[in-house]
Amino acid sequence: MEVKKSCGYGKIILFGEHAVVYGYPALATSLELGIFAHVENSDCNEIIVPCEALHILPDKSKHVLGKVFAKILSYFPNESTCKITLHAEIPLAAGLGSSAATSVAIARGLSKYYGKELKATEINEIAFMAESIFHGTPSGIDNTIACFGGTCYLRDANKFPIPEDSFEEISLKKLTISRLPVVHKLPFLIVNTKRKRNTKKMVSKVRDLIEKDANKYHDVMGQIGALAKKGYDCIKKNDHENLGLLLNENQKYLNLLNVSCREIDFICEKSLEYGAYGAKLTGAGGGGCVIVLIDKDSEKLETIFRENGFDVFKNKKMEN
Ligand code: PMV
Repeated sequence: MEVKKSCGYGKIILFGEHAVVYGYPALATSLELGIFAHVENSDCNEIIVPCEALHILPDKSKHVLGKVFAKILSYFPNESTCKITLHAEIPLAAGLGSSAATSVAIARGLSKYYGKELKATEINEIAFMAESIFHGTPSGIDNTIACFGGTCYLRDANKFPIPEDSFEEISLKKLTISRLPVVHKLPFLIVNTKRKRNTKKMVSKVRDLIEKDANKYHDVMGQIGALAKKGYDCIKKNDHENLGLLLNENQKYLNLLNVSCREIDFICEKSLEYGAYGAKLTGAGGGGCVIVLIDKDSEKLETIFRENGFDVFKNKKMEN
């Protein structure tokens, strides 16, 4: 059989990480970079990730990716065995939705390879199941963006109204995802602290905080949720100055949730010192990536980040 190549998009959360797990609104948008899966014939089911030197046999592996692969394969019963090779354009486990992009790429790759035309909504549901294996209680934002691309607003539909220009609503467990038209391409620098962290652990760290003082932390998350709506209004108006201020405000609340770290704080401080509109961590925090909303000239800032050992890149066009 012919080799098939498929992709899932990476994403950045502009507003609302962690708060969204409790139903408060969040806003996220896709990167034009992602994870690619190459599917080809093989004597056994196997998955290879060259950048991590991983070779996994789903039936025997205790690795979470092996479990995810086995789960996705269960949607394709009685098919021949295959080898999947994963190529990453985004750093893994760094807050850019690599796990969801991986699940979408695998599901899409298998559906093409076996000639089973699955709808995008079906691919999204498979990826949501896979995200539950990766993270326990995913909000569903990563898999939806990895699958459809574009910009999404996510909220508990019983408590928060639908955004007026939503063109599609997708319900996943308790939360509803509104797909929104992408209005402007935002000039973000994405800075990878390279500090490894684990989404599941960060989510449970926040849960522990909430158990200690529910009123205080629900109030913080309510404030974060309100920023998601205001942020989308700024994006529509192409108002980068106010969008930057809102990003900074979100970062302050994330500090209160104790999900920042020394490197993230340093990147945010330098960004403001050198004229960026705003900066905040993206994803679960504790390391991973920071998004920096920049003006046209960001060379000085990029140099400072590289000199301090961070990786820096801009959102680039995806090949296919
Ligand atoms: O770290 P990432 O890219 O998996 O993002 C996690 C975002 C959270 O809000 C912390 C969790 C979720 O499922 O929404």
